[in-house]
Amino acid sequence: MNRRKFMAETLAAGAAVSIASAPANGSKAKFVKILGISCSPREGKTTATAVKAALDAAKRVDRRIEVELIDLGGLEISGWSGGAKATEGRQIRDDFDLILPKLRDPNVGGWIIGSPVYFRSMSALCKVFLERCAVLRKPKLLLADTAVGVLSVGAFRNGGQELVIEQIQSVLLCHEMMIVGGKPGAHQGATLWNFANDDITKDEFGMDTARKLGIRVAEATLRLVPK
Ligand SMILES: Cc1cc2nc3c(=O)[nH]c(=O)nc-3n(C[C@H](O)[C@H](O)[C@H](O)COP(=O)(O)O)c2cc1C
Repeated sequence: MNRRKFMAETLAAGAAVSIASAPANGSKAKFVKILGISCSPREGKTTATAVKAALDAAKRVDRRIEVELIDLGGLEISGWSGGAKATEGRQIRDDFDLILPKLRDPNVGGWIIGSPVYFRSMSALCKVFLERCAVLRKPKLLLADTAVGVLSVGAFRNGGQELVIEQIQSVLLCHEMMIVGGKPGAHQGATLWNFANDDITKDEFGMDTARKLGIRVAEATLRLVPK
């Protein structure tokens, strides 16, 4: 079964895409969800692992927090094409449709988004995903006041991770999202170095920044959601 088919069937069954966990207190009533979005075309690799680490740290902050990873790896998503205004709603049919309901979930109060560094820029997949999120701006800014933190993974220690974080943050400002960095040591977001043949857990410093990002996003999310 290919990834697209798997996603379609999983969604049809009403299940989560990759990880979804119930609130730690077992209650279904008062919870807020933090979505992690991994924008590497390589499913389950270093970016996804880093985003998952951030989500795990976020979840440990408070029992009201639920997390879910959306791994864009293996999905086919096109960028915005001409002929329709970005405000006219859904424009093309592709795998973006599979994740759109998750992005529109009213329980979502926070995002953690990660991209690999590709030539000192965000990945093309990250860019097309962000372009397609234009549909979340009308009829109202659905992502406004959603806390969001950004991480980036590169193969070099100074490979452009901070540039990628800033590029993504610039886009998110157009949604009036509430951009946060991480706890001290990761103020700009999480920066990871893939030096050990795709085993990103070997980058202890970088993994620590991912956890610090997750904690800060969780704190901000709890402040921003109505009590
Ligand atoms: C087309 C391409 C360009 C890349 N450019 C950079 C770069 O400019 N700086 C860097 O540090 N790493 C660069 N890398 C390496 C990736 O950022 C790195 O392998 C990352 O861990 C990949 O993320 P993933 O494991 O989630 O796919 C590049 C990789 C590719 C495929």
